[in-house]
Amino acid sequence: MKDEYPQHEANRAMWNAQATAWARGTDARGLWRRCHQDPSLALCPTERALLGTIAGRETCVLGSGDNEAVFALAGMGALVTSVDISDAQLDIARARAESLSLEVRFVRSDVCILTDLADESFDVVYTGGHISVWISDLRRYYAEAVRILRPHGLFLVNDYHPTRRMWHDSQGPAPAHRYFDRGPYRYVSEEGLPQYEYHWTTTDHVQAMLDAGCTLVKIEEDGEGEEEGAHAAMVPADLPRSLLLGGRKMGGGAVDRPEPESRGAPCR
Ligand SMILES: C[S@@+](CC[C@H](N)C(=O)[O-])C[C@H]1O[C@@H](n2cnc3c(N)ncnc32)[C@H](O)[C@@H]1O
Repeated sequence: MKDEYPQHEANRAMWNAQATAWARGTDARGLWRRCHQDPSLALCPTERALLGTIAGRETCVLGSGDNEAVFALAGMGALVTSVDISDAQLDIARARAESLSLEVRFVRSDVCILTDLADESFDVVYTGGHISVWISDLRRYYAEAVRILRPHGLFLVNDYHPTRRMWHDSQGPAPAHRYFDRGPYRYVSEEGLPQYEYHWTTTDHVQAMLDAGCTLVKIEEDGEGEEEGAHAAMVPADLPRSLLLGGRKMGGGAVDRPEPESRGAPCR
């Protein structure tokens, strides 16, 4: 299993090495201490409207990272399972949850191989905040997310907007990457560890959700503004910041559609 996604294992080692620095950043922001009391700090109005009343609902967060969404959902009364590939990220999140007296189940897993999570065991699966960029197989990721979801359950994705990735690595106003160049993009972290990133398109996200067996109930592009972080300094401020997708799992499970024959070719 471990060998199935060698790039993910490389990313795991990199995230383990980066976890302490990431925690320093989220400590400085301080949201994780407050979002269980004020979920609006971590979840936007559209997310909260789609989630509705989730007290007592089994909810899974995939690629939980800083766990701000996890703590917000726990504060809303959901029974939350937090999934991340990085042991070190989860150790930090577990200690933070304990310090807030929040009950959260933590599972270390690749989002493409959720073997520890049973079929149809969640009412809500949530993922977002820059996760898909680390995933080499978006169709498998979304198929796993929908497999663990109960029929009519909500699959909520709120990720970094695909168009912005074109300016990643840019030194000027022109984009550095083609929209349809999905990667992999290989970088070396400050610790000298390789990391692999992927640029999925909006269509890739929507199609993967439909193919996994959802009907699309919401799509929204939101937010403008200056990018934070050195890499992204050149991202035009007037592009949308996030892509939000809401899917409802259909009764009959995944839709059997063929793998795409070619990627990026225009429709005729
Ligand atoms: C940029 S964080 C995003 C999460 C959160 N929004 C945040 O800002 O912390 C990325 C997280 O995804 C996790 N991750 C990367 N690849 C993964 C995979 N294949 N399966 C599960 N988690 C993964 C990393 O360990 C990291 O905690």
